[in-house]
Amino acid sequence: MKIAITGGSGFVGLAAAEAIAARGHDVALFDLSAPTAAFRSHPAIAGARFVRADICDGAMLAEAFAAERPEALLHLAALTSNEAMERRGAARIIAVNVGGTATTLEAAAKAGCRRIVALSSIAVYGSRRKDFGTAESLDETTPLCPDTLYGITKRAGEEVAHRLAELHDLELTVLRLGPIFGPWERPGEARPDLSPHAQILAQAAPRLVNEMRADWLYSRDAGAAIAAVVEAAGLGGKTFNLGAGSLSTPREWAAATGIALPEISADAPTVTSRIPPSRPPLAIERLRAAIGAAGTRPITQAAADHMAWLDSVGVKPARATR
Ligand SMILES: NC(=O)c1ccc[n+]([C@@H]2O[C@H](COP(=O)([O-])OP(=O)(O)OC[C@H]3O[C@@H](n4cnc5c(N)ncnc54)[C@H](O)[C@@H]3O)[C@@H](O)[C@H]2O)c1
Repeated sequence: MKIAITGGSGFVGLAAAEAIAARGHDVALFDLSAPTAAFRSHPAIAGARFVRADICDGAMLAEAFAAERPEALLHLAALTSNEAMERRGAARIIAVNVGGTATTLEAAAKAGCRRIVALSSIAVYGSRRKDFGTAESLDETTPLCPDTLYGITKRAGEEVAHRLAELHDLELTVLRLGPIFGPWERPGEARPDLSPHAQILAQAAPRLVNEMRADWLYSRDAGAAIAAVVEAAGLGGKTFNLGAGSLSTPREWAAATGIALPEISADAPTVTSRIPPSRPPLAIERLRAAIGAAGTRPITQAAADHMAWLDSVGVKPARATR
């Protein structure tokens, strides 16, 4: 199958591209800029074409889709804003995350591409709700209550995508992704906050604000699940959580990699995270029932695979290993 990925040069985009290419599909990465040189030459994505495109520019996108004629579209391009970015660039975040979603689906429909998988986020459930204290997990029927501009635009993006799917007779599947870490992560303007795992890798003396226990999903497992959803028939109109299905901490991951354990230092932390401490993990039973295997691999396996991948792109942890 010919598969186009908007935001294809980003963290999730490359993890998905790797998994989709491994299943024998033809992959095109649609993005404002190409993957970094180290990533671009990696054998896992060597066959993927890069197409420069702005999802806010309907004419450019329609021309690019008409030339590529993808059979399926994975829509990931977005601004994963933090608070500082929301304070200085609200209109741009709304334009890309909501307007860009409309432009992308319209251009796909024009090019005759009917199968769409759009990435949403756990942020649509919100982070400050009082009832999080009693909920064991967030399933797809949990009321949406986003409290950041990012979460608000991801929710609006979902709703816009569903309406356009109705209007243009598209088979749309929405995936609400939880927090991820692992291969293909890098700093970028569109995504100012790195996972704590990536921050630990980049710092010689990292200090964590707290344990950050959460349903951390290994990026290669996220990519594999996304690839399975793109391939699966009959998932149009459905929404799924895409999460780890188990809890872990960055310190457990560091211990498994052999990196000396970072300290917890609430007073002077150098590693922070936007994960709200009281937010329950994503329930992933619905996705499991649809595609079979879902969730994350054990932390020791993720750590070993992650270290081998870092080696393959020439990155060494800044922190001493034991
Ligand atoms: N990383 C996570 O933890 C996480 C969690 C939940 C949901 N998501 C969702 O996954 C998707 C991908 O996020 P990511 O973590 O890979 O972020 P990322 O910043 O690494 O990738 C996003 C990509 O979109 C591109 N982009 C931004 N504006 C564009 C435009 N106007 N036209 C074309 N391309 C544009 C950027 O250049 C970037 O390569 C997003 O939809 C995000 O909401 C990510």
